[in-house]
Amino acid sequence: MSSHYPVGIFDSGVGGLSVLQQIRAGLPHESLLYVADSGHAPYGNQPAEWIIQRTFAMTEFLLEQGAKAVVVACNTATAAAIAPLRARFAITIIVIEPAIKPAVTMTRSGVVGILATGHTVRSDKFAHLLDQHGHQARVLVQPCPGLADCVEQGDLNGPDPRALLERYLEPLLNAGVDTLVLGCTHYPFLMPLIRQLTGPDVMILDPSPAVARQLRHRLEKGGLLAEQDAGGGERYFTSGTGEPTARVMAGLLAKPVNLEILPERFRLVCHPATVRQSRLA
Ligand code: DGL
Repeated sequence: MSSHYPVGIFDSGVGGLSVLQQIRAGLPHESLLYVADSGHAPYGNQPAEWIIQRTFAMTEFLLEQGAKAVVVACNTATAAAIAPLRARFAITIIVIEPAIKPAVTMTRSGVVGILATGHTVRSDKFAHLLDQHGHQARVLVQPCPGLADCVEQGDLNGPDPRALLERYLEPLLNAGVDTLVLGCTHYPFLMPLIRQLTGPDVMILDPSPAVARQLRHRLEKGGLLAEQDAGGGERYFTSGTGEPTARVMAGLLAKPVNLEILPERFRLVCHPATVRQSRLA
């Protein structure tokens, strides 16, 4: 393992680019590989075994590309798969999860809102997080079906995301939420629309900068931080069809994106039984 090896980042789709942007800002010399599992997005309402299987495929691909660390830039994948992922792969794995702890510390009204996918909010991991930190404030949890799909299609401020956000935010705002946690990496791309609907007084928390700091810390500790003269640069991959995803990614990053298609074996979904067998192996 060497410091000039790349860092691998993956998400169910384009949402993890919000994490990639923070990593790029905090670690300018790292080479980054980003995989969007767009052929299988969204993960939000899929069963855990299915998500585990996709996270294995993403991680195997990144390791094959020589990744020195893997960032799971997806709250849903973290909630479903982090334990089996860590059990299977002996590599530095950085994850993202809803920022409940900082939110309950920062709220002044004592009411915190969490926006996340259905899978995340139903997961044991989330229940545990709430159990650990949720007592210091009233925490209102709002699953947001359909919202990540809008971002996946590049629709950041049309009637669809607006109608969904109005519906999801209304009960939270009525209850006096003053701190809002973005518990899905797709949602930071909706920040201007969310801000319009919350008004200026609600604090909106995105944990991606903390993920970038944690990655830096782990790389430094392992002597794996890229040198100042390292090449940097990014490569982008998808399990979906290239063209529409490339266009959406380019829009989100505000620069052209050369998107490579994953080899077929990483694009296939196998039956959950295969996952169970491989976990026993
Ligand atoms: N971006 C993902 C997350 O952070 C989830 C979107 C989805 O695939 O449902 O949870």
